[in-house]
Amino acid sequence: MMQHSKVRNLTMDAVFLALLIVFAMVPAIPLGFIPVPIVLQNVGVMLISLLLGARRGTAVMAVFVIMIALGLSVLTGGHGGLAILAGPTAGYIWAWLLQPAGFALLARFVPKTDGAVMPNFFFSFALIFILDFFMVFGLGSAWLAHVAHMDFIKAYLGNMAFVPGDLIKVFLATTVATAIQSRVK
Ligand code: BTN
Repeated sequence: MMQHSKVRNLTMDAVFLALLIVFAMVPAIPLGFIPVPIVLQNVGVMLISLLLGARRGTAVMAVFVIMIALGLSVLTGGHGGLAILAGPTAGYIWAWLLQPAGFALLARFVPKTDGAVMPNFFFSFALIFILDFFMVFGLGSAWLAHVAHMDFIKAYLGNMAFVPGDLIKVFLATTVATAIQSRVK
């Protein structure tokens, strides 16, 4: 029984890692005024954060970061390589690594059904968006400001262009994750 759930969890982790990489195949939309594009790949990070919990979610994201470091084309546009992990978008990628643990931490402060990984739709939606808006945009902008010699506030305000698209992505990820959680017990 124990072995069975371990295999099931590992399979689920591998499926979400694969899904994260598949999202990289959707072309990025460049913005021009900030060297960070609109991507679909962060939906995958949201799903991993919502469904896998802190430990498994961080492990999956760590494998993803290692794949980037090894030069595999797992990022949008087929990018990969050590240089990316220190380039203009590196802060966003490091924030993605922290997102599953950040979500699990915030989820402790809201009501949750016993045994469930994620809270209900409303709280999950709010927490994922809060993490995106403050942690992902915050770390992303701080690193971008550092490497591009930009003002932090200017870099952070540039992220407001991501808000409409990211709100839709948070909605999609939370809807899919809520449906999966209600089926996988
Ligand atoms: C990369 O591929 O190098 C990382 C791209 C990071 C893009 C960030 S994630 C949050 C925000 N929403 C987007 O659609 N793009 C940015």
